[in-house]
Amino acid sequence: MLVSMKAILDDANRRYYGVMAMNSINIEMARAGIMAAEEEHSPIIVQFGPGQMKNHAHAEEMLPVIKELAKRVHVPVALNLDHGTDFHIIADCINRGFTNVMFDGSSLPYEDNVSRTSMISALAHGMGCSVEGELGHVGQAANSDDMDQDLYTDPDQALDFVQRTGVDALAVAVGTAHGAYPKGKIPKLDFDRLCQLKETLQMPLVLHGGSGSGEENLRKAVASGINKINVCTDAFAAGKKSMLKALEQEPDLDYMHLCMAAEAGIKQFVKDFMKVIGSSGRYIYGETRQVGYE
Ligand code: 13P
Repeated sequence: MLVSMKAILDDANRRYYGVMAMNSINIEMARAGIMAAEEEHSPIIVQFGPGQMKNHAHAEEMLPVIKELAKRVHVPVALNLDHGTDFHIIADCINRGFTNVMFDGSSLPYEDNVSRTSMISALAHGMGCSVEGELGHVGQAANSDDMDQDLYTDPDQALDFVQRTGVDALAVAVGTAHGAYPKGKIPKLDFDRLCQLKETLQMPLVLHGGSGSGEENLRKAVASGINKINVCTDAFAAGKKSMLKALEQEPDLDYMHLCMAAEAGIKQFVKDFMKVIGSSGRYIYGETRQVGYE
């Protein structure tokens, strides 16, 4: 079932676990994630960003697929616009039935981030759609300058931001970055800051740049208050690796079977990830646990 991202994350916040938000740019990825969630009895967040829509599959193509897949499973599924910046695209996604939009004003001056995020919040909430904001800035893993601690989220400023914008979840910068890290590098996360943010805000917190973070960091991040973990690079890599392996075993394999290999590889990757972040087994159909999602 398709539910608001807020419902999923409020439960995760209450019960101290993380939910995977996988950038899913085609039917294979969306189905891999949603079916993995069903088998793991876990919630899942399907998401993609404006660039991914422009380059590959637009919301109007993906939405019917995701709605249909979500209808087939018992576990809660949310659909999120990742890194929205353009008002028209965000409004279009809200109108189409995304159950969450992220407004990324993290590169803007603070007051501009507050005013634009507030405007998006008012619009989205009026349409029954929840909102993720970002404060501090999560940069690119390939660019080490973007790991600058000056860009990490400040807890006092975050409280002011959340109170003034009314966001339902907040993406925080605590040491991860988007994309692949240089070979051998595992990011160092500022867990003290993360614990402080959780204690101050008492709300769902989001970790961007989940790829390449390492299992220990992920477990500790969830234990310190992270409830949503964004993953793109590692999911793409899992699909690519499965395709290459299938080709190696059978060089004449046709395109359909290559797509099937990618889907199976991504599904296994998602299932393993869900176990690490503690969302497996959180949603047993028929149990009272599901109350609150409707
Ligand atoms: P990665 O590609 O590093 O997993 O980051 C994904 C992300 O944060 C999407 O918002």
